[in-house]
Amino acid sequence: MAGRLSGKIVLLSGGTRGMGEAQVRGMVREGAKVVFGGRDRAAGTAIAESLGGKAHFVPLDVTRSEDWKAAADFTLAKFGRIDGLVNNAGVGATRPLVDIDDAEWADILAVNQNGVFFGMREGARAMLQSGGGAIVNVASPAGTKAHANLVAYSAAKAAVIGMSRAAAKELAPSGIRVNVLIPGFFATRLLTETTNSEALVRGAQLTPLGRVAQPEESVGAVLFLLSDESSFVTGTQVVVDGGYTA
Ligand SMILES: NC(=O)c1ccc[n+]([C@@H]2O[C@H](COP(=O)([O-])OP(=O)(O)OC[C@H]3O[C@@H](n4cnc5c(N)ncnc54)[C@H](O)[C@@H]3O)[C@@H](O)[C@H]2O)c1
Repeated sequence: MAGRLSGKIVLLSGGTRGMGEAQVRGMVREGAKVVFGGRDRAAGTAIAESLGGKAHFVPLDVTRSEDWKAAADFTLAKFGRIDGLVNNAGVGATRPLVDIDDAEWADILAVNQNGVFFGMREGARAMLQSGGGAIVNVASPAGTKAHANLVAYSAAKAAVIGMSRAAAKELAPSGIRVNVLIPGFFATRLLTETTNSEALVRGAQLTPLGRVAQPEESVGAVLFLLSDESSFVTGTQVVVDGGYTA
């Protein structure tokens, strides 16, 4: 049976751990050819090897537009087009508003907002050449719902939602769909490193389904949004949060 992404070429950022790694593995399982970027060369190479040549790692710091260009050029040179792009890379930040210094503010926006913009720009340029594609940008409940001590992260994630909707409208006539994935509490390093050691317990308490999610539980929504199953879905958000924002 053909996979859900059979024959599709997908580029993903932040693929060396967490949800990004799970998505790379899921996309390969469903027949995609995957190029994934990240900063951890050793982890990226090991993941690519474990997938037997069906995924390729490229060094990618999403804050650097030249890295994005190189990642897109690599994908185009290898496969000739980009059908799907997942802007997954992100960093967390928990700090009272008055304690956020200029450097931290700039860093959070550089990764979580500028990184998504640079990625969309490269992805859309390639997709305009080939006649269409699907873009998935990863935001957060922080982009739609109030959380104390998350001003910088919320600013960037709200921007991701705004950019995605604007891009969806602009690119729809060219056959390019743009959607947002909103994950709730997931058991990844982002959650455990940027909050306190009880983040997983607290996340489970706040989630109606009564637990935090595993990275693999983000995969189904991304496969849906990249595949032709979602051919009439654009400019919207898929929320995978166990009921947190219900
Ligand atoms: N874990 C959660 O509870 C949660 C909730 C909502 C949204 N998210 C979002 O999900 C996405 C994936 O995060 P995760 O939970 O898997 O966490 P994670 O920390 O395991 O993964 C994030 C990935 O992004 C990469 N990254 C960070 N800065 C980068 C940069 N400058 N260039 C390239 N890669 C960079 C990291 O190295 C890592 O591989 C992020 O966008 C995050 O904001 C996570």
